[in-house]
Amino acid sequence: MVRLRYLGHAAFELKGEGAVILVDPFLRGNRSASAAPEDFDKVDYIFVTHGHGDHIGDTAEIARRTGATVVANHELSHYFGKQGLKCHSMHIGGSFTFPFGRVKMTVALHGSDIQEGDGMIPGGNPCGFLFNMGGAKIYHAGDTGLTMDMQLLAPEGVTIALLPIGGNYVMDIRDAVRAVEFIKPETVVPIHYDTFPVIEADPAEFAALVGESTKVVMMKSGDTLEVS
Ligand code: NI
Ligand code: MN
Repeated sequence: MVRLRYLGHAAFELKGEGAVILVDPFLRGNRSASAAPEDFDKVDYIFVTHGHGDHIGDTAEIARRTGATVVANHELSHYFGKQGLKCHSMHIGGSFTFPFGRVKMTVALHGSDIQEGDGMIPGGNPCGFLFNMGGAKIYHAGDTGLTMDMQLLAPEGVTIALLPIGGNYVMDIRDAVRAVEFIKPETVVPIHYDTFPVIEADPAEFAALVGESTKVVMMKSGDTLEVS
């Protein structure tokens, strides 16, 4: 069993198999955040999908204080490693068995450079993650457009898919509905909308278009959900 807690935007806490995991902990400066960086005392891993500020978020601060291992692509791992953080580097298509379960780094169609001051630091390829833990398969898509590669997830038997629907930088509602058709998850949770004016979207419209084939859970920031 894994307990998911939605922290707003694309940020989640996953608890299960003795591990506390954060994904894309953008909390400070996130108007939808339901937790602050200092609320987290015990974190074992922080998974980062790409280098944009609304995903890296408070990774460095939380990892430094808790000793959490940052899991990200090679380039982001190098960036965090230089800051003295413990890192585990992966790359697209690779899987690794962590103490809590096996994680695959999946394709995402997006950017990943890190903005620092007026400059950009190369951040490698953006990604998503497929967590196989606690009897559940949890797919966090990261920031992405619709990809044909999502069809590769259907045979995995995804328990729950966390999909961006906000448009502009990522899939809009119609493409996210097609993503659900490709992935065929048991449950889908719309994320990455309404945080900024350009990504306003109505999750009820998404739910109506998905229809009966897949259960849609509209999590509000702070909501929890148990999956297995
Ligand atoms: Ni992004
Ligand atoms: Mn984003």
